[in-house]
Amino acid sequence: MMFKVTVVSVVLIAVGLACLRRHMAGVRYNNTTTRLDGKTVLITGANTGIGKETAIDLAKRGARVILACRDLDKAKTAADDIKNRTGNENIIIKRLDLASLKSIKIFAGDINANEKKLDILINNAGIMRCPYWKTENGFEMQFGVNHLGHFLLTNLLLDLIKKSAPSRIITVSSLLHEKGTINFDDIYSEKSYHPETSYSQSKLANVLFSRELAKRLEGTGVTTYSLHPGLINTELKRHWEKESMVLKILLSIGKYLVKTPEEGAQTTIYCAVEETLTSESGKYYSDCAEKTPSKEALDDDVSNKLWTLSEQMVGLNNGNT
Ligand SMILES: NC(=O)c1ccc[n+]([C@@H]2O[C@H](COP(=O)([O-])OP(=O)(O)OC[C@H]3O[C@@H](n4cnc5c(N)ncnc54)[C@H](OP(=O)(O)O)[C@@H]3O)[C@@H](O)[C@H]2O)c1
Ligand SMILES: *[C@@H]1O[C@H](CO)[C@@H](O)[C@H](O)[C@H]1NC(C)=O
Ligand SMILES: *[C@@H]1O[C@H](CO)[C@@H](O)[C@H](O)[C@H]1NC(C)=O
Ligand SMILES: *[C@@H]1O[C@H](CO)[C@@H](O)[C@H](O)[C@H]1NC(C)=O
Repeated sequence: MMFKVTVVSVVLIAVGLACLRRHMAGVRYNNTTTRLDGKTVLITGANTGIGKETAIDLAKRGARVILACRDLDKAKTAADDIKNRTGNENIIIKRLDLASLKSIKIFAGDINANEKKLDILINNAGIMRCPYWKTENGFEMQFGVNHLGHFLLTNLLLDLIKKSAPSRIITVSSLLHEKGTINFDDIYSEKSYHPETSYSQSKLANVLFSRELAKRLEGTGVTTYSLHPGLINTELKRHWEKESMVLKILLSIGKYLVKTPEEGAQTTIYCAVEETLTSESGKYYSDCAEKTPSKEALDDDVSNKLWTLSEQMVGLNNGNT
């Protein structure tokens, strides 16, 4: 009797876990035939995680892929692996540290001088729940890298992207943007700092930026997309898992249930490739479908105010750049 109960329980748990795993795996982008020959793609943070998996997929489709990474050794290892796995030799590595306005300007100057076109920009790099760190220019690290760094980068590359229209700008956000609010009164997080609140704020800023950019680019042939990639087993948890032993154990079990990096890249690939999205702009996606973001993410006053503040913070339009 006892034995039977045990067997039934084990089977039920196994089936339950298998269903959960299938559910977590999410939707796969089903169009593997669309080619990107002759197109240039730039991906930030492409040396690991979903950025690297995105690079592999787009390289298979024939694109010239620029990996923008802060560590050139890691970038070279990734580029060699991508070339080997795709047979595409047109994989370029360049140094970009999004925590430094100087690095972003040097990087953008190099791209603008040496690339004839830029068809797809993927703002993918991100840092999550780090300690209270500041960027080279004194911004709180998560807001500085995830939002402000990509804000300046995109603006500096915009002429080249417009010249390449129809072209796309994709910004990887997160479902956690729903927990975020833009704390205009303490944007440097000097009065208080909570790692998770600040991460959510930066991911909300990603959605607001993408929507505001779409409005400003209307009629140019450049379209924008933001997205939630899913819950994925990547290095993103590197600061987070240090917080407690219990968290570390939960994460080490959970990693078998959540998306693989390859599964996590699917919505980014969808936004970069899917033909029917050419007529859409400023929207937010998850599991290869449009989703409604949070109320604050749809607030035009907030997105406009964030844009102006971001311009001031990175020194755009005041002769500093
Ligand atoms: N994983 C998830 O469950 C999940 C969920 C929702 C959203 N996201 C979003 O997905 C995106 C990709 O994350 P991931 O999960 O693939 O994480 P990951 O494996 O940690 O990769 C993050 C990438 O960003 C780079 N990066 C970090 N700081 C940088 C800086 N200052 N300058 C340039 N590059 C920098 C990292 O470079 P190094 O390797 O040199 O550190 C790495 O290449 C992020 O925007 C993240 O917010 C992830
Ligand atoms: C591919 O996915 C889309 C939705 O993302 C769906 O409408 C379509 O039927 C799918 N096509 C195939 C061949 O599975
Ligand atoms: C993939 O996209 C191309 C271009 O829009 C289309 O012709 C083709 O039917 C699509 N294939 C699938 C499987 O959806
Ligand atoms: C990848 O590397 C392996 C081992 O070094 C080699 O046998 C294979 O031919 C390479 N594949 C490509 C596409 O270069």
